[in-house]
Formats: sequence, C-alpha cells, structure tokens
Amino acid sequence: MLRVSNLSKSFDGGARRAVDDVSFEIRPKEIFGLLGPNGAGKSTTINVCVGLLDADGGSVEIDGGSPRDSAVRSRLGVAPQSLAIYEELTAEENVRFFGSLQGLKAGALKQRADWALQFVGLYDRRKDRASAYSGGMKRRLNLAVAVVHEPRMLLLDEPTVGVDPQSRNALFDNILALREKGLTVLYTTHYMEEAQKLCDRVAIMDMGRILALDTVDKLIDAHGGRSSVIVESNGVEQRIEADDPLAELIRLREAGPLRQFRVERPDLERVFLHLTGRHLRD
Ligand SMILES: Nc1ncnc2c1ncn2[C@@H]1O[C@H](COP(=O)(O)OP(=O)(O)OP(=O)(O)O)[C@@H](O)[C@H]1O
Ligand SMILES: [Mg+2]
Repeated sequence: MLRVSNLSKSFDGGARRAVDDVSFEIRPKEIFGLLGPNGAGKSTTINVCVGLLDADGGSVEIDGGSPRDSAVRSRLGVAPQSLAIYEELTAEENVRFFGSLQGLKAGALKQRADWALQFVGLYDRRKDRASAYSGGMKRRLNLAVAVVHEPRMLLLDEPTVGVDPQSRNALFDNILALREKGLTVLYTTHYMEEAQKLCDRVAIMDMGRILALDTVDKLIDAHGGRSSVIVESNGVEQRIEADDPLAELIRLREAGPLRQFRVERPDLERVFLHLTGRHLRD
C-alpha cells in the first residue's frame, strides 16, 4: 500500500538531516507505527509521503501511484500534527467543508459528516465553533476531517496528543473497526503504549533513521533484554533480571516468604534504550 525507498530530506541548506535513507513498506490493512522521540523525523517522513514536502532523494509509492497524483491523494486521509481546521467554523461546518472538497455532495455529505463526527465522539458538540473547543477536542476534529471521505489509507501524525484516555480508547476501537473493512494506517507517535496497543508493526525512529522494524513482540524479543522479577518481603523490594523469570521466582520463594511479587516483561521503552542508550521519554 505504501513503499518508501531510501528517502532523505534535509533542512537549512543540507545542514540538518531530518530523514536519512529511510525505507519501509506498509501492507494493505496494516496499522504501521513510526515511534520515536521529538525531532526523530516522523513528521518529515509523513509529510513527504502525502506530498506536502519534496524529498531530496529516494521515492514514495502510495496506493499504486505518486503522492503528487490527485487521484491517489483523494484516497488518502491525512491528520497533520499542526492542526488543519478552521477555528471560526463549527465542527460540523469544518467536516462538511473538507468533505465537499473531496467531492461529497448533499445527502452523502451529510451522512458522512455525521458519521465522522460520531467517529471522534464530537457529534453532540457539532454546532460549537472549533475556537471554543479544548485542545483534545480540536485534535479529534482534525481526525474527523481526515476520515470524512472514507479514505483507503489514513496517515495520522500524533493524533492523540492531549486526547483523554477514554476518547483515545474509543478512537483506537474505531480505527481497528475500519481496518476490518480494509483501511491501512500509518501512525506516528512518541507514546510507546500506543504503538504497543494499536500497531501490527512498528519502526523505531531516531535522528532521521529507522533503527529497527518489526512486530512489537519481535522487537522486544530481539532488543528488549531480559524480564525482571520484582519481589517484596519485609518491606524491601528487590528487582532481579532473569532469563527464566518463573524459575527465578521459585528460587526466591524457596529462600523465604514473599509478600508481593510480579514479573515485568521488557517494553518498547527498553527496546529504545537498548538501541540508542537513551530513554524514549524526556
Ligand atoms: N521546516 C523545517 N525547517 C527546518 N528544520 C526542520 C523543519 N521541519 C523539521 N525540521 C527538523 O527536522 C528534524 C525532524 O523533525 P520532525 O518534525 O520530522 O520530527 P518528529 O519526529 O515529527 O518530532 P515530534 O515528535 O517533535 O513531532 C528536527 O531536527 C527538526 O528541527
Ligand atoms: Mg512530528
């Protein structure tokens, strides 16, 4: 569905390499995550993929064509990191305006606009101006605008920043339901929990490069290190890394009574730490 080959993009006359020889493919119906910290190059990558920026080198093929091709672009839904909504319009007017730009008319436009507003949980507030929305609600409206024309592929740049957990979970459920109907998704985030929960495969990005790309489980197996066994007895907590956490737990139990215990599997945060020597979180 999307093939990015040897993509490079610099800013400031070549002084700053934002994207450095990046390649990946997204299969139809896949939810693909680009995970990385601030400045990793996620937005630059997505902006080249949707034709908002020109690459210095490499190529992008999307849905069988070029992102510059208007027929291809009409099948994409894009929610940019910098909000693309009109503050002075109501939510409903925003969604209808962008729907009409995509060729929707009359009954179909109304039906799709209502659906998109329900998709993001803003239907009850559809008559309010965007300027009166909270940050998280604006972010959700930005997403409603991206889905109104029933795109085949969604490219979402940090779509949940500032969105509360309940709305976020509802959005995830809705995205997963659309995938069942054939949607493909490129999703950027710096929240490893989101990548872990939503994405079929994740590319870990840092300083313009993809450091690793696989399913979450395989990334953790390859780069996550060992599990930790955490035990507490007499008010003292001990954390022990173990290849076989169950055997370690049994050994600790035999050594004395345990008040509490748990096993922690490594997560994508640990994968990032092992790959870069730095934490994903600030
Ligand atoms: N228009 C621009 N002009 C100059 N430098 C830019 C521009 N856009 C991005 N950059 C630089 O390119 C690098 C990658 O930025 P990018 O926005 O792609 O990162 P990101 O992974 O999306 O980060 P964030 O998580 O903060 O959104 C950064 O060093 C940034 O300063
Ligand atoms: Mg960004």
